[in-house]
Amino acid sequence: MTKKRRSQHWYGKLDKDGFIHRSWMKNQGFPDHAFDGRPIIGICNTWSELTPCNSGLRDLAEGVKRGVWEAGGFPVEFPVMSLGETQMKPTAMLFRNLLAMDVEESIRAYGIDGVVLLGGCDKTTPGQLMGAASVDLPSIVVSSGPMLNGKYRGQDIGSGTDVWKFSEAVRAGEMTLQDFMNAESGMSRSAGVCMTMGTASTMASLVEAMGMSLPTNAALPAVDARRMALAHLTGKRIVEMVDEDLKPSDILTKEAFENAILLNAAVGGSTNAVVHLLALAGRVGVDLTLKGFEIGSEIPLLVNCMPSGKYLMEDFCYAGGVPVVLSELKPFLRPAKTVLNKDISAHYEGAECFNRDVIRPFDDPVKPAAGLRVLRGNLAPNGAIVKPSAATDALLETEAEAYVFENIEDLKANIDRDDLPVTAETILVLKGCGPKGYPGMPEVGNMPIPARLVKEGVRDMIRISDARMSGTAFGTVILHVSPEAQAGGTLALVKTGDRIRVSASKGELELLVDQKELDARRAEWQPDAPHYTRGYAKLYIDHVLQADQGADLDFLVGKDTRLVTRESH
Ligand code: FES
Ligand code: MG
Repeated sequence: MTKKRRSQHWYGKLDKDGFIHRSWMKNQGFPDHAFDGRPIIGICNTWSELTPCNSGLRDLAEGVKRGVWEAGGFPVEFPVMSLGETQMKPTAMLFRNLLAMDVEESIRAYGIDGVVLLGGCDKTTPGQLMGAASVDLPSIVVSSGPMLNGKYRGQDIGSGTDVWKFSEAVRAGEMTLQDFMNAESGMSRSAGVCMTMGTASTMASLVEAMGMSLPTNAALPAVDARRMALAHLTGKRIVEMVDEDLKPSDILTKEAFENAILLNAAVGGSTNAVVHLLALAGRVGVDLTLKGFEIGSEIPLLVNCMPSGKYLMEDFCYAGGVPVVLSELKPFLRPAKTVLNKDISAHYEGAECFNRDVIRPFDDPVKPAAGLRVLRGNLAPNGAIVKPSAATDALLETEAEAYVFENIEDLKANIDRDDLPVTAETILVLKGCGPKGYPGMPEVGNMPIPARLVKEGVRDMIRISDARMSGTAFGTVILHVSPEAQAGGTLALVKTGDRIRVSASKGELELLVDQKELDARRAEWQPDAPHYTRGYAKLYIDHVLQADQGADLDFLVGKDTRLVTRESH
């Protein structure tokens, strides 16, 4: 070996500093030869009991360690902030960038040569990737893996997706509160992430398509013994990657992002993938914009999983998982290097499908042209998005009157009022839920259908906001309107009774109010007082970029790959 390993700048020194770095590590029982110059592999773990989706990661870390030792490396596990999507208020998204900072600075400050990222729940995967990309040491992902299929009264039920359905059924008087409560324990019955194609499984699938994990990482259930074996193999592989000096910047190319966008369309992936991919692209310096997502818009929906279809991640795994989808997309995939130091084609070679109702062939899809659509117009000059695979086709081309909620409190207080002046055709508009406004851009864009309409059988309406929605959610929901209301976007100026035109086929989102009137409204407009005036949340509000730029903090864009040379003592 010619170049001195990074870790040797810590553990290879024969002076006071080397003594300090080694001696204190030895209190854990590591022998001398652990410091002999072998690759030191950090295992960056987001395990937490408050992130139930990541509760299996302590076990998986042991699998990674076996592989690292076997390959002649030295594994060291370290914790980073964990983001429990279902547990954190006001939204885990507020903290994605904080996790990314934690990951980045932990990797940079410690004497490691490569990193295994253990994540799973929605924001943990992008947060870890963003942080790792900004240091650019060899890195590879092992995901939590999905929970076993939910079961209730003999039927499969899906994380999130069926919560939204059951909750509407209770409001419509079609389900008792007792049945609703009973479904809780059946929905989440093993370790792992949401077993619908929500954001967690979407991001794990995209990680696989971008070549940042070993093949099959996305779909193997959390409790499947093969996931433990995958962790072991990943531990072996990262040691080789360090010797090959194979870094995120070698893998996360424009082509890799394009492959992710194509796959996202075919799996019916989460709208949240858009903000996460944009933010990650910003870290690695890939020129990706919302327009770049249009390459997915003609790709058909192949994976028949909730929320766009009917099956769950266990079924997707047993049908063959991401490798089968990649092989269906073969004519479209871009050449791109992966963690195997081979082209992405190595990730799907020989893939076989074992259930054609779960993963459909390209020429017999679940839905044609299913990729996310980008909408633009005076209501979203910098763009908004909609997910046609989870929407009602007829609503995607509409012109109708708006009913406006000024903020989330306004919505909660009034949505179920019997005299709410709305019909099934009304377009519901919600303001104040963007990155700066809430803050953190929560998953409230799939506003509930007003109770009176639910009782009449209405199950979908057009909804427009600067919020996100859960990857498990469905409906004709226009999201990520940019600029957001709190940043003075046109959204802030919409009033109840205004007409709005939506056309997914033409990519339009127009507020049909003349410019003079809009100018007059703007002259009157004032942003809301910020909800936080100190701490991280203030830093976030002051520096967060808009959704069309991935909602990263402005000063975190890019990377710094320099070695830290100054010692601590
Ligand atoms: Fe954690 Fe869905 S809430 S993965
Ligand atoms: Mg979510």
